[in-house]
Parts: sequence; structure tokens; C-alpha cells
Amino acid sequence: MTKPRLYSGMQPSADSLQIGNYIGALMQWRDLQQAYDAYFSVVDLHALTQPNDPAELRQKTRRTAAQYIAAGIEPSRSTLYVQSHVRAHAELAWILSTITGFGEAGRMTQFKDKSQRYGSDATSVGLFTYPVLMAADILLYQTDIVPVGDDQKQHVELTRDLAERFNSRYGDTFRVPMPVIQQDTARIYDLQNPTAKMSKSAESDAGVLWLLDDPSVSAKKVMRAVTDSEGSVRYDREAKPGVSNLLVIYAALTGRQIPAIEDEYAGRGYGDFKKGLAEVVVGEFGPVRERALELLADPAELDRVLATNAARADEVADATLAAVYDKVGLLRRV
Ligand code: TYM
Repeated sequence: MTKPRLYSGMQPSADSLQIGNYIGALMQWRDLQQAYDAYFSVVDLHALTQPNDPAELRQKTRRTAAQYIAAGIEPSRSTLYVQSHVRAHAELAWILSTITGFGEAGRMTQFKDKSQRYGSDATSVGLFTYPVLMAADILLYQTDIVPVGDDQKQHVELTRDLAERFNSRYGDTFRVPMPVIQQDTARIYDLQNPTAKMSKSAESDAGVLWLLDDPSVSAKKVMRAVTDSEGSVRYDREAKPGVSNLLVIYAALTGRQIPAIEDEYAGRGYGDFKKGLAEVVVGEFGPVRERALELLADPAELDRVLATNAARADEVADATLAAVYDKVGLLRRV
């Protein structure tokens, strides 16, 4: 029996992934890769929508791939590859852009946020069509599920709309994918500003827990996380966003329920709680960091693994693209 397909990816937009990427996506990927035929990409073409130093982008791409493997994605089981290695992504994105409405793309909240932040002159057309390229990523692989954090939900909805539109216009071609979002961990917040999503592009580093940070740095960031003056370890997203965020992280990394953690720290201060969490974070990240650094010490081997996987991805992607070219009426090259 063939396994259902899974597709997901991350941008190589920083030297390290942050704990939101890890808890919101990577942990799900690791668990789901057994039951699914999984495709995980490092979406370097997407990363070009932000200013980049070329040599640094190449390095961040390798570093992102190494962190996938270090966190437990098995490149012999799952297809782990670099988006730009598979030409079909950019080609399908063009075709899909011809059936995407201008207004429809303009309603994407990530685009609205980013373009507001950058100003219209610094906002590229690539940033506008970013979600169309993401739809191409997903649809090329006839994907059943897309495990992501909450912030990508709207993009997956657009992907579904485009798949349905194409299918009804040209005949059944794409499988219509479902987003899979783990509700309780769908959004991890910044440690210093616990009502804002933790992000690789955060202005201040103090609120971001990087997977590749030195363990002592991670511990310090946890100890300095913003809490409140009440002093009791209790989940209340509205009244206690800082403590609630720390409880979510604690629960996600240990697999424990939040009430059990609240009980453990009942009557003890935030200092004890943060110390406990710092140990959990360091215990989780330490081995991942070590393994990632080991992999990065041999870039030739890493590149070889990525090339083998890209060849696997090519096969599936090319078959879908050929069907699409036929359906829309492009003349076949003989
Ligand atoms: P990116 O690189 O911003 O984030 C990668 C994954 O991490 C999740 N995430 C979070 N989850 C919980 N809390 C947070 N604070 C947090 N920050 C990030 C994201 O939801 C995402 O799942 N457009 C995508 C990359 C992409 C993609 C795709 C994803 C390109 N093509 C195809 C899935 C399928 C992005 O920018 O993710």
C-alpha cells in the first residue's frame, strides 16, 4: 500500500532555526515521517524575497538542512532537498500565477504585514507572489497533508483554492492538500515580547531561542524571559502571556500536560520554574546542536545527500509539471 504524501519546508533565512520552527513544525515532521511519504525542502527561492548576502545564503541553506537531519529527519526515508535544485518549482509557480487573482494574493496577511514594514519601494513582486511559489511546492508532489505552524494556514488555504480552480478549469490534475496544525503549539511567542510570534527576523535577539545557540546562552534567555508580578506558575494566555508561553514550550518539549507542570511548580517561584525549563531546553537542543555541527563539518557529504534527494524529488515533480503543461495547452517539445 502506498503511503499518503506529506510536504513541508522552511526558509533558510537565518543561521539557525528558532524554537518556534522546532516545536511548531520540525517535531511534527519527525513524528509523521514514519507514516507518510514525506518531502521536506529548504526553500531558498523563497528566502530571496529578503535581502541576502549570496555566500551567506548558501551557508544558511546548508545549515537549515543540517538542522533538519540533526532534529531527526532521516534523509534515507524522507526526501530532504533544496528547493532550487528542483527546477519544476519555479516553472509551476509561473503557471499558477496565471490563475491567481491580484486581489486574492493581496489579501495574504503575511504579504500585507511585510510590505507595510518594508514600504512599497522595497516590496518586491517576488514577495507578492511568494504564496504562489509555496502553492507550487505543495502541489507538485500531489500532497495530502502540510504540517505547519499557524502563520502558514492562509497560504495553505490559497494552495487549496488554486488546486481546485486548476482542476475545475483543466480537469483533475492536483490532489487538494489539507493543512495540519497542532493547535496547542501552533504559535510560540517571543520571550521578551510574549504577545508577538517568535520569528527568525525578530528585532531583538534576547527573545529568540535559537536551536544552535550555545547552551549557556539559551539558559540565560530562558532565565530572563518576561513573566508577570503574580508569581504563580499558571496558564492564562490573556492575563499571563509570558508564563503561558513558557508552559507551552515546557509541555511541548517534555510531552507532559500543562496542569501536571503547574502542579509540580505550585508554591514555587518563577526562578525555579525557569531553571527547570532551562534544563529542558538545554537537554533537548544540546544533542541537536552537536549533531548539526558535526554534519556541517563535512559539507561535501551533506551536499551529496541533498543531491541524491533532489533527484528523487525531480522524478515526482517532473511528472506533475508535464501533466500541467499538457493540460494548459503548451506545445510538447519532441
Ligand atoms: P518559515 O520558514 O517562516 O517557518 C517554518 C515553519 O515554522 C513554523 N513557525 C512557527 N510555529 C510556531 N510558532 C512560531 N513562532 C513559528 N515560527 C515559524 C511555520 O509556521 C512553518 O511551518 N512559507 C513557509 C515556508 C514554505 C512552506 C512551503 C511550508 C515554503 N513552501 C510549502 C510548507 C509547505 C515559511 O516561511 O516558513
